Amino acid sequence: MNFVHALLTSSASSEHPTPAWLVDQLAREFGPFDLDPAATAANAKAPRFYTRDQDGLSQPREGRIWLNPPYGREIGSWLRRAAQAGAEGHLVVALVPARSTGTQWWIEAVGAASLPPRFLPGRLVNPETGRQWTIPAALLVFGPVRGRHGTAWSRCAVCQEIFWPSYPKRSTYSDRCRKAAYRARFVPDSSPEMGQQEGRSGEPVRRAAACLSL
Ligand SMILES: C[S@@+](CC[C@H](N)C(=O)[O-])C[C@H]1O[C@@H](n2cnc3c(N)ncnc32)[C@H](O)[C@@H]1O
Repeated sequence: MNFVHALLTSSASSEHPTPAWLVDQLAREFGPFDLDPAATAANAKAPRFYTRDQDGLSQPREGRIWLNPPYGREIGSWLRRAAQAGAEGHLVVALVPARSTGTQWWIEAVGAASLPPRFLPGRLVNPETGRQWTIPAALLVFGPVRGRHGTAWSRCAVCQEIFWPSYPKRSTYSDRCRKAAYRARFVPDSSPEMGQQEGRSGEPVRRAAACLSL
């Protein structure tokens, strides 16, 4: 393992960019994100973002916030700020390392969160390097949460992405795939391009459409 790889995969590194599919999935569930306070121009997950040079920790919070904070010693300050933003009425969805669940910052953050922690199965893949994270991850949500939100993950039978169904026993397909399947079944014009746009392959979506009792 060379030095650069060690740096990228170490929990002390601040560069653990989030895979886009996960942010997309959560944006569909909670609404689109307005601000990413810990980012670079290349890895930002919201239209407004702050970089290290701007020090996103000390900047104002606005709208719906996506947070994947630097994972060094400063992580506690980022989570305290997230809890504060939540108390001020901002929704904050935070991706955090999940191997330090006995630490002070974790206990405080979980205590302030609006939903129970969502532990992610397996390891995320760093979209920049293609390598798996070496640490497990979880999601913490702060602030006002409307509607029903599931806590147990499920894997969509069509796209294979994980999602958190509101009614776990009933959902085999993520909302996106259910909608794609619905369109494939009832809106003929949507079928040809669906493979590219909605699923990894159009055929499983069509099969899902055929067996979904919509
Ligand atoms: C774990 S990465 C998350 C990147 C991106 N937001 C995402 O979700 O993919 C944390 C990012 O925070 C940036 N960062 C570190 N210290 C920061 C600070 N004080 N203010 C803003 N960004 C910072 C790092 O450069 C890094 O890009």
